[in-house]
Formats: sequence, C-alpha cells, structure tokens
Amino acid sequence: MILFSELERWRGNTITRSFPKAIVPDRHWRRPSTKESEESLTRVQNIIGDFDAEYTMKYYDYWSQHYEKDLEILDYKVPDFMASKLAGFLPGREWENPSHSVLDVGAGTGQMAIALKKFDFKGTVDALDGNTKMLEKAREKGLYKHLEQHLLMDDSPMKFASNTYDTVVCCCAMVPALIQPECLPDMVRVAKSGGRLYFTTRATDGNSTFRDRVDVQLNAMKESGLIRITAEDVIPQYSWPVNEGDDDKHCISAVAICLEKLKNSE
Ligand SMILES: C[S@@+](CC[C@H](N)C(=O)[O-])C[C@H]1O[C@@H](n2cnc3c(N)ncnc32)[C@H](O)[C@@H]1O
Repeated sequence: MILFSELERWRGNTITRSFPKAIVPDRHWRRPSTKESEESLTRVQNIIGDFDAEYTMKYYDYWSQHYEKDLEILDYKVPDFMASKLAGFLPGREWENPSHSVLDVGAGTGQMAIALKKFDFKGTVDALDGNTKMLEKAREKGLYKHLEQHLLMDDSPMKFASNTYDTVVCCCAMVPALIQPECLPDMVRVAKSGGRLYFTTRATDGNSTFRDRVDVQLNAMKESGLIRITAEDVIPQYSWPVNEGDDDKHCISAVAICLEKLKNSE
C-alpha cells in the first residue's frame, strides 16, 4: 500500500501550488476483483506484446469504445502523476503562461489534457495520435487546440516543424506495441531548445530489451549535446497485479523520464 508521505514525495517537493490531494487511492493497489474490472484489466493486458502497428490500430478501433470506462474502473492516474510533476519541472511561471505550448503524443482520448487542466495549466495543448477513433474522443472534450491523426514510426516523422513546442509529453504510449524508442529523436526535434520531453515506458523485467532501446536513443542524444536528462521517476501505480498472489512490487512498473533540449534542431 502506498503511504501518503510517499505520495507527497513523488508528487514532487518542488510543487508549491495547492493541487488536489491523494490522487492515488489505496484501492488502486488491489487486484481488481469484480467481473467488470477483470474485463477492463484484460483489455489493458491484451495490448501488452510485440504487435505491429496495423494490429495495434485495429485494437484501438475496438478499445476506443471501452477505453475511458476501463481507465475509470482501474483508477488510472498516470496523467495526473505526469501533470503534477510537470508543474514542478517548468521554470518560473511557465505553468500559468497562456502561450506555453504542449504537444501530447499518443494522446488517445485526451487524458493528459484533462490532467493538465485539473492541475491548472494555462497554456495550449495539441494532440497527435495514430488512431482516428481515439482522437475523436479527445476532440469531443474540446481541450486540444489542434488534433493531428498521424501514425508515428521511425520512418514516418511528425509533420510539425522542428523547434516548435515548449513541452512534448508522451503518456503510456511508448511500449512495444505502440510508439517505438526510435521515435524519441523526432519528439525531441519538435521541442524548442530549452523545452522538454516528458515520457513514460514500462520498467518491468519483461520490458528490459525495449528499455535498452530507449537508452540507446537517450545516450546518443546526450552524447551529441542535444539533451540532458532532468528526472527519472518510478510511477507507483502504472499497472496492476497481473497474477493471483502478485504483490505490490508488480505495480511499480513504469518510469517517467524528463529530458531538456539544449539546442535547436537543424
Ligand atoms: C495507452 S493509449 C495512451 C493514451 C493517453 N496518452 C492516455 O494516457 O490515456 C496509447 C495511444 O497511443 C496511440 N498510438 C499507438 N501507436 C502509435 C503510433 N505509432 N503513432 C501514434 N499514436 C500511436 C494509440 O492509438 C493510443 O491512442
């Protein structure tokens, strides 16, 4: 069970604004036990694997009908975690700057925009996602300034100009079946110099090869002087115990990595 003191710690000591408290309720740590929650969990688990983009997009065509209900049932809080941390990462009064521009890559149905609003972010948010049905749900919320349907692949970069966004976020979309680590340089490309990319990936043993590929990309950008890593946090409630008898450590299964871009891309 997560202690409240721990929750306060990972929400970030740098945050001084008064944000909603206790965004990760205790019950999150229990294996879902109702039939409804078992079904929701199954839909999450069904996309854990090495699926290709075509399969993944078909899956999201189907999952788009259940996605938000499933997240609610499973008490998904990663966007809240990221928004609250990001508020602390931004310098000065940037959080309240109406011209601060965020790009939400793999935006899905718009959970990140909801979280940013909840935490009183005053800038603008654009969305990019490969799946039209997920993006439609995001559009309905009216929280994004611009929505772009685009399947991001290492050979299919985003159409945005380089050095455009103050902040790029990618919440729970960089995992084997979804956006690949080789797309990280493109996400950095569209961020401004002095801006940041904040993204998650799984931290589980089963994801170690994928995480190695993330690190290859990060190290190459670090070595060329393009970025520096500014934060790497464990997300306590990223996923849920999968098997009967799994303990809490199975919940601590993702990292959120923040990096700062140090110079403009050509
Ligand atoms: C798990 S959802 C996360 C959505 C949202 N960020 C959230 O936290 O709820 C992953 C999203 O990534 C999108 N996606 C997967 N692969 C993609 C790709 N290669 N390019 C663009 N979007 C992709 C899916 O369509 C889906 O909407």
